[in-house]
Amino acid sequence: MADEPVSSEQLWDARYSESERVWSGNPNVVLVREVSGLQPGSALDLGCGEGADAIWLARRGWRVTAVDVSRVALDRAARHAAEAGVADRVDWQWHDLGASFPDGVFDLVSACFLHSHGDLPREEILRTAASATAPGGTLLVAGHAGPPPWEHEHHDVHLPTPQEVLESLGLPDGRWEVQRCEEYERPQTAPDGRPVARRDNVLKVRRLAGPAGPRP
Ligand SMILES: C[S@@+](CC[C@H](N)C(=O)[O-])C[C@H]1O[C@@H](n2cnc3c(N)ncnc32)[C@H](O)[C@@H]1O
Repeated sequence: MADEPVSSEQLWDARYSESERVWSGNPNVVLVREVSGLQPGSALDLGCGEGADAIWLARRGWRVTAVDVSRVALDRAARHAAEAGVADRVDWQWHDLGASFPDGVFDLVSACFLHSHGDLPREEILRTAASATAPGGTLLVAGHAGPPPWEHEHHDVHLPTPQEVLESLGLPDGRWEVQRCEEYERPQTAPDGRPVARRDNVLKVRRLAGPAGPRP
């Protein structure tokens, strides 16, 4: 009998169940760099994982909605938020973003490293993310520019350039300002402890003030 297909939820629950902490617990450097200068308001974190970005935002005064497909990650993130004293500032929501999306519009929508070996219609999700960005608000998309330097196997996850991400959003002319669209390098530690350089990319666009567009 053929194997049952594995859902994104099963895949990511299994990944998060492998260890007590999968990520560093620190917010993404790119988020800190790009968001520190913004006035706190409402924020949406897509693919929040163990919650480090959402907790950092909440500590800075943002009211955060944080979404993930893994209930293991969401439970862990909620525990970390309680330990950090910001439980009341983060609304943790389970969504498989290919199928459902949080209600509302947000002053900041952040999708940091929303990559998956599972079924993830990333372009469609990011277009929905753009339409969930309030007038005057910011959409931040960070992604890997290539596989980690310690992985030599062929990677089956498509990693678009920031220019490709921008084009796939199909933003209407004159309604958005492109504030950052570039590749950058950041230091990282390989699993064997070696310091390595990782190439990532970032797209930061601001929706100009005006009426919000329709939500799909
Ligand atoms: C590479 S991790 C990044 C986590 C976090 N944003 C960070 O930068 O540390 C990708 C995250 O996206 C989540 N994810 C993958 N597919 C998803 C989907 N279809 N819907 C919602 N979240 C998903 C995973 O569970 C995982 O937490």
